[in-house]
Amino acid sequence: MTATEPAISHDEVDLDGVLHVIDQHSDVLFTWDYERSRPALVKLYEKAKTSQWNASTDLDWSTAVDLEKIVAESQAAFADVDPLRTDPDSPLRSWSEAQWIEFGINMQTYALSQFLHGEQGALICTGLITATVPWIDAKYYAATQVMDEARHVEVFARYIEEKMGGAFPINANLGGLLDDIVADSRWDITYLGMQIMVEGLALAAFGFMQALTTEPLLKQLLRYVMSDEARHVAFGVLSLQEYYQELGAAEIRERQEFAYEAAVALQRRMMGPDVFARMGADPDEVTRWIDEKGDPGQQLFQMMLFSKIVPNCRKLGILDAGDGWLRTKFEELNIIQFEHLVDTTEEYGTLDAVAADLAV
Ligand SMILES: [Fe+2]
Ligand SMILES: [Fe+2]
Repeated sequence: MTATEPAISHDEVDLDGVLHVIDQHSDVLFTWDYERSRPALVKLYEKAKTSQWNASTDLDWSTAVDLEKIVAESQAAFADVDPLRTDPDSPLRSWSEAQWIEFGINMQTYALSQFLHGEQGALICTGLITATVPWIDAKYYAATQVMDEARHVEVFARYIEEKMGGAFPINANLGGLLDDIVADSRWDITYLGMQIMVEGLALAAFGFMQALTTEPLLKQLLRYVMSDEARHVAFGVLSLQEYYQELGAAEIRERQEFAYEAAVALQRRMMGPDVFARMGADPDEVTRWIDEKGDPGQQLFQMMLFSKIVPNCRKLGILDAGDGWLRTKFEELNIIQFEHLVDTTEEYGTLDAVAADLAV
């Protein structure tokens, strides 16, 4: 190999399915202006420095996790209302109790696996932001988020490996969205895709799982992660709120379209064809049946996951900018009803107080 040849070519890296290459051509920005001119980001950075936790020592990894018992308990509450179990036409009607337990464990592993892969997306995006954002206060803050995200990847990877027996691959919709976010050369799109859309959804999703799970280690783990995520979403809103005031109508419209495409991908991210396939069912048949039949409980849950994203888009001004294009699209996705919930910059103060009360 000569000095001009890359150590690994793009053709070689995917051979074992482990590495995934994205072409990235952002401008990397030094700034010689070190003045601390953005007090809200300074405050966030100071909070981040005193909110670090240690995944190795702050969580009780010796906790025994009985997945079958936990899944049986959670299914007991919903078994009678799940159309896949109760409808006579369900393609899974013949499954035994043991198969439903196995399915429940797989779905939980699938959900946590998508959290894990999303966290790695956040790690990569925030590393990128430290290089591409023009403001020193944002570079400082993003550096703390890189450490937070490394910790999040670490805890989800360890939990899935030690307590669940290994991860599922990334969902195609989530993977495509992460690729689009990372490949885009505009620094604010990294923020919009990751801090506003992906992390906004994650903040809501972690909240539901944290409230519902009876497994003490997962509950504690999610509580720690959430205390960081609220800060990350607030970082996105604070940064973009300033930048989007400078953009013209055409540029704002591009951001609206990006947010809409991300929302569509995120709505589809939890369809688990891999889980059905692993269980020996035909993923296409099951997915088609669910789509046709509809599951009101599941649909409501999926909509609730947008309860952070929509108010934050309103705060950024992109919901109603121009002719309200994004508002119309969010109406079509049936998620507009969350627009007047509290946005994350306002909510952050409260969440931070909660985090301080935790057993940290
Ligand atoms: Fe994270
Ligand atoms: Fe995050």
